[in-house]
Amino acid sequence: MTPYPSPTTLQVELDDRSYPITIGQSLLAKDDLFTPYIKGKRVAIVTNDVVAPLYLEPLRQTLLAAGKQVTAIVLPDGEEEKNWSSLMRVFDVLLQEKCDRKTTLVALGGGVIGDLTGFAAATYMRGIPFIQVPTTLLAQVDSSVGGKTGINHPLGKNMIGAFYQPQAVIADTSTLDSLPARELSAGLAEVIKHGAIIDAAFFDWIEDNIAKLVIRDPEALAFAIKRSCEIKADVVRQDEREGGLRAILNFGHTFGHAIEAGLGYGKWLHGEAVGCGMMMAADLSHRLGFIDGNTVQRIAAVVRAAGLPTVAPDLGVERWLELMQVDKKNEGGQIKFILLKPLGTSVVMPVPQDALRATLKACVQA
Ligand code: NAD
Ligand code: GLY
Repeated sequence: MTPYPSPTTLQVELDDRSYPITIGQSLLAKDDLFTPYIKGKRVAIVTNDVVAPLYLEPLRQTLLAAGKQVTAIVLPDGEEEKNWSSLMRVFDVLLQEKCDRKTTLVALGGGVIGDLTGFAAATYMRGIPFIQVPTTLLAQVDSSVGGKTGINHPLGKNMIGAFYQPQAVIADTSTLDSLPARELSAGLAEVIKHGAIIDAAFFDWIEDNIAKLVIRDPEALAFAIKRSCEIKADVVRQDEREGGLRAILNFGHTFGHAIEAGLGYGKWLHGEAVGCGMMMAADLSHRLGFIDGNTVQRIAAVVRAAGLPTVAPDLGVERWLELMQVDKKNEGGQIKFILLKPLGTSVVMPVPQDALRATLKACVQA
């Protein structure tokens, strides 16, 4: 008898860049999940000083036992560290250690480590392979899948980066046991997002199960992770480089990124900003007649029950507008929003200024 249920595997279908997502418990110990995706002998694990004491050693031992030569690169923790100097620290070590282009990078951590390591892999020696080992709920349901990699610029979130797919995503759900409650809530924001934009039945399921998710019921979490990965993988399969459809995955992010940049990276968690941003996008959708007031209330209730903020910081309307101008979706200076039309379906469009200003006034702290 095995102590844990078998892992689930999904496939991100992208022709010769297709890769598996494996979701299950105690996967860091399973060398056979890693070795098919590590062609050379050298591996560099990139992690941070919070995750390293918890999971670096088990993963290093697994890879050493598989005959790999392992280098560890431990960065300072934090969204504010997702920057150029952290990226340079990765390159410094890779070059000092004479890591060649057969080296595989392993991103062990949350979305910050995943995004930064992916970008390092995309650019070191013009591209080396990497594996995502997400250890936050947010990274397991969203950021490790789909190949968006990058770092922040002081003037805008995720403004420097590349589309670059990993060789594999290995999501060990046991690592969520050590995740602080606030971080779990941040991950739930992206789970709610997936239901709201694309799958009304999944949104209903989230509403019914939000209390279980908050207390980390393993079955509920496993389902939420699997369904989120399925939804994201399907969107990425259809539109890898965000020519159109993929933009819907940014529901709540236009407002959320403004909150993150406006308050300073790291003040609110990314998922908290997205949770509040989804509320604001729902309010805006309602003002344009796309959803009814009851739907706005349902979204507010589930965001609140997930432990996320529903009242936005008062940045001042003009500052909000200025911050939202710095967004990769914008074209010709026009801010674009992801709106629900209705719940479970989404549209991407510019909006009338008066409706936007009304949302900004209504949703901020009085
Ligand atoms: P994070 O990477 O900062 O991790 C959150 C915190 O949890 C950190 O302090 C981290 O050290 C800690 N941590 C990680 N795993 C842990 C564990 N198992 N136990 C205890 N502590 C642990 O933040 P995040 O929420 O994972 O990711 C947010 C980032 O992801 C943002 O930069 C966002 O822009 C990015 N993102 C990217 C995509 C994408 O498609 N690439 C999608 C969504 C979000
Ligand atoms: N999280 C947005 C995307 O992956 O496209």
